[in-house]
Amino acid sequence: MSSIKDTQLELASTHGYTPILIKISPDMSSEELKILSKSVLQNKLDGIICSNTTVNHNHPSKKGGLSGKPLFEPSTSTLVALRALVGPDLPIIASGGVMNLETFNHKINMGADVVQIYTGFIYEGPSLVDEIINSESQKLNFYLTERPLLNFIL
Ligand SMILES: Cc1cc2nc3c(=O)[nH]c(=O)nc-3n(C[C@H](O)[C@H](O)[C@H](O)COP(=O)(O)O)c2cc1C
Repeated sequence: MSSIKDTQLELASTHGYTPILIKISPDMSSEELKILSKSVLQNKLDGIICSNTTVNHNHPSKKGGLSGKPLFEPSTSTLVALRALVGPDLPIIASGGVMNLETFNHKINMGADVVQIYTGFIYEGPSLVDEIINSESQKLNFYLTERPLLNFIL
C-alpha cells in the first residue's frame, strides 16, 4: 500500500490529487481485516469499499463471486467490523446486497458514508433509486439524521 500511496502523490503534482479506495472481500478473517485496516490508516489511503462479491458459495463450478441478496449479511458484518477498526472518519463505500430502501438505510446506519448499488439496479432498475430518494419514510429520516443518507453510486 505504501507504493500505491507514493505513486498517487507523485502523480498528484502533474495530474491533481485522485483519491484511491481499496475494495475488500467479505471473506476476510477478522485478523486479516485488522491488518488491512491498520495499513490503510498508516498509509493514508482515502477510503475502503466494503465489499466485493463473496467466493463462499455452493455453485458446482466453484468459480466466480456471488452478489445480491445472499451477500447482504456477510458484507454488512464486514462493514460493522471495519467501521469499528478504522474509526468514524475514514470514508467507507458500502456495497453488497442493497436491494431496497431498508437494506440501503441499514448500510448507512452501520457506518457507510456512501452506498453502491449493482445487483439491485439490475433487478429493480431506476425505480429502486426513486424508492430510496423519494419514499415518505426517507424524507422523515432526512430530518432525523445528519448522516448523508442520499449518497450512492450505481
Ligand atoms: C457481473 C459483475 C461484475 C463485477 N465486476 C466488478 C469489477 O470489475 N470490479 C469490481 O471492483 N467489482 C466488480 N463487481 C462487484 C460489484 O461492484 C459489487 O461490489 C458487488 O456485486 C456487490 O454489490 P451487489 O450485491 O449490489 O451486486 C462485479 C459484480 C458483478 C455481479
